[in-house]
Formats: sequence, C-alpha cells, structure tokens
Amino acid sequence: MSSAIRKFAGALLRRLQSLRFYRLLGRGRLAGLLVREVVPADYPALQRLLGGPDPSAGQSAPRHSNPQVTEWVAEYGGQLIGFVQLVRRPSAELYGGHWLFSLIVASRWRGLGVGERLSQAVIDRSRQEGAPRLDLVVYAHNLRAVRLYEKLGFVQYTHPLLEAQLAGELAAAGRRRVVMGLSLE
Ligand SMILES: CC(C)(COP(=O)(O)OP(=O)(O)OC[C@H]1O[C@@H](n2cnc3c(N)ncnc32)[C@H](O)[C@@H]1OP(=O)(O)O)[C@@H](O)C(=O)NCCC(=O)NCCS
Repeated sequence: MSSAIRKFAGALLRRLQSLRFYRLLGRGRLAGLLVREVVPADYPALQRLLGGPDPSAGQSAPRHSNPQVTEWVAEYGGQLIGFVQLVRRPSAELYGGHWLFSLIVASRWRGLGVGERLSQAVIDRSRQEGAPRLDLVVYAHNLRAVRLYEKLGFVQYTHPLLEAQLAGELAAAGRRRVVMGLSLE
C-alpha cells in the first residue's frame, strides 16, 4: 500500500472510531478477547506494540518480578493489541498510591472496548488490594483517553504534589497533563 493510501485509510479509521455509532457496533465484536497479565514471552511483541521505550525501563526491579508493578495485555487472535500497567508506590512518594500508567491500544483495534477492558482490570485489582483510590495522568487534549476515564468514573482534580511539575510542563512545552482519580471506597 502506498504511504498516501495508508495515511488516508488511517485518517478514515480514526474518524470512524470517533463515532459513537461505530463504537457501539464494535462492542462484542472481539469475542474471545483475552485480558491477562504479561508473561516474559510477551516482551518482543510488546516492544513492537509499544513502538518506543519500554515503560518498565529504569524501574528498580526487573519488570516481571517487580512487586510494585502489574502489567496486562489484551490478546486477540494470538496478537497483542493492548497494554496497561498498575504501579503502586509508598504514599509518601511523588506518585504515591495506586496509579494506572501506559494504557495503549494498537491503532486499528481502537473503539472496540479494549481500552475499557484493560482499564477495568487495573481498577478491579486496585479494589481487590484495598486501595482507597486509583490515579492517572493524561494530556488534557487527549479527549479519547479523557472520555474513557470519565466513563469509568475518574474525575479531574488538583494533585497537591504534582501541580507544580505539571504547571512547569505546560509552561515549557505548551501541553497540559492533568491528574484524574477514581475513588474506590
Ligand atoms: C485512549 C485509548 C486507550 C482508548 O482505547 P479504546 O480501546 O479505543 O477505547 P474503548 O473502545 O474501550 O472506548 C471506551 C470509551 O472511551 C471513549 N472513547 C474511545 N475512543 C473515543 C474516541 N475516538 N472519541 C471519543 N471518545 C472515545 C468513549 O467514552 C468510549 O466509550 P463509548 O464507546 O461507550 O462511547 C486509545 O485510543 C489509545 O490507545 N490511544 C493512544 C494512547 C493513549 O492516548 N493512551 C492514554 C494514555 S493516558
């Protein structure tokens, strides 16, 4: 496929995915979608999915044995099509508590309920662990993600420890990240 056709097809798909009608039709289309924890055999496929730096790089323990981190993939037809992390840190730290990070769904599989299923796995586990809340950061202009989190009950709030950092990012890069939280109590 030429790059112009690929670009056009991508733009068309993104337009379709933005339509609630498309997303409604897509619900249940992925019968057999599996959301499961990451195993080491997933790493090569994960790297391709993430297409960038490994989100676990630089963490204090190897990814699979780090008790602070749980990772899930969405698998469909033997292919990894989505990923998310739950990170827990001591409450005194900057990102203290339970945080949802690195949610991504492969572009052609968006709008079919995969992001929601992955996020729900993080919410369910946090609740099982007795966490009082689950937080995340998201670019304010990333409306697909913001809408997803709102649908799941997250609300935007001013995080006392992160506010200065986020304001600094806005001043330096012109892009605003916001904190959203979900009460689990
Ligand atoms: C954000 C992202 C994870 C959503 O995943 P997804 O599988 O496409 O989302 P779902 O199909 O589960 O949609 C769940 C809800 O999200 C919202 N949503 C998803 N796509 C949307 C779109 N294009 N426009 C508006 N809202 C959208 C809707 O509220 C939707 O519920 P609805 O269909 O009942 O209206 C996906 O777009 C993605 O990977 N984006 C790039 C990475 C990213 O931005 N990650 C977030 C980092 S914080």
